[in-house]
Amino acid sequence: MWMMMLIMLLLLVSNGEEVGGSSGEVEDGIISRNLLANGLALTPPMGWNSWNHFQCSIEEKLIRETADAMVSSGLAALGYQYINLDDCWAELNRDSKGNLVPKSSTFPSGIKALANYVHSKGLKLGIYSDAGTRTCSNTMPGSLGHEEQDAKTFASWGVDYLKYDNCFNTGTNPKERYPIMSQALLNSGRPIYFSLCEWGQEQPATWAPKIGNSWRTTGDISDKWESMISCADENDRWASYAAPGGWNDPDMLEVGNGGMTTEEYRAHFSIWALAKAPLLVGCDIRAMDNVTLALLSNKDVISVNQDKLGVQGKKIKKDGDLEVWSGPLSKNRTTVVLWNKGTSSATVIAYWSDLGLNPTAVVKAHDLWTHSIQRGLKGNISANIESHACKMFVLTPQ
Ligand code: GAL
Repeated sequence: MWMMMLIMLLLLVSNGEEVGGSSGEVEDGIISRNLLANGLALTPPMGWNSWNHFQCSIEEKLIRETADAMVSSGLAALGYQYINLDDCWAELNRDSKGNLVPKSSTFPSGIKALANYVHSKGLKLGIYSDAGTRTCSNTMPGSLGHEEQDAKTFASWGVDYLKYDNCFNTGTNPKERYPIMSQALLNSGRPIYFSLCEWGQEQPATWAPKIGNSWRTTGDISDKWESMISCADENDRWASYAAPGGWNDPDMLEVGNGGMTTEEYRAHFSIWALAKAPLLVGCDIRAMDNVTLALLSNKDVISVNQDKLGVQGKKIKKDGDLEVWSGPLSKNRTTVVLWNKGTSSATVIAYWSDLGLNPTAVVKAHDLWTHSIQRGLKGNISANIESHACKMFVLTPQ
């Protein structure tokens, strides 16, 4: 009995909070749940998706060049591996056997050839469909009623990832429609990452971990500060449901698309990393500038996102526009983002009590953006921070 209680307590402490209502077990020190049995996404996915920058203007040359740029920019070596097509890759009508058909004007070589190309670069290919009769662009068929056939098609093409949208859905509940595709993907015989995109409407964090590798918690992000911070906040509500195998998805990155300042993009990337969000780049990586590349290439920030403990960091303190976000990392470390959302510079402070650290702890702080180290910190960490900027640290007790 006491042993049971001790194990329960350890589970709570190691996850930093309750285990999101699902049955947890400890394996190699990591909490596992009733996971989707495809073995994928033990850390959040990293890659690129066509939608934020290109919307429907996609064609196979762009996708091949993007795969090339992923490798030549060094991003692939940092873990960005998925090259994901979004909406608009197929013809409006299925063929006479009911199969999806790649759009001949834009994908004349077909998806299998594209997957082969992407795989030859050491990367993975993602595709997009919809749990309805048409996709959101209204230019291609959805997979509702064709789940087994489409999952087999995707597997036969060598697809590694499916984003599954929610338009033209005939009004039935996503909880009925999404599990059918999840099972069809499992039946396809190929491990295919399953990304649910029902925009957070039916609180997917509460039911999607069993059927998907990630689930959108928000409507569509746009390349604006207000949109980005609202996605971060909506996503934060569901922090306790994320764990290895299944992640909350506050939508894809806008870093590099031009609508926010460098400091706003730095905060966007820092918070997505801390929140264990999928890191799916949404800009034209063939033409990104050095500032964008430097933001997306920060190894230390990426390693917070990819930390094996897999606990989503969250907002732990708010004082007007001044916020502290934090979460536990493996090896008894803690990550902290001090964020000034206000319009003028201000000092943001996090006390050890805010962070759940022992009040007497002496801490080493590694600044993940300046790469400087402060030793011997006692009681709190603070910094003067410009408007809309943040600082991100990893704290290690000394
Ligand atoms: C939306 C989805 C976007 C994008 C778009 C394509 O529903 O949230 O991320 O996929 O459809 O039409």
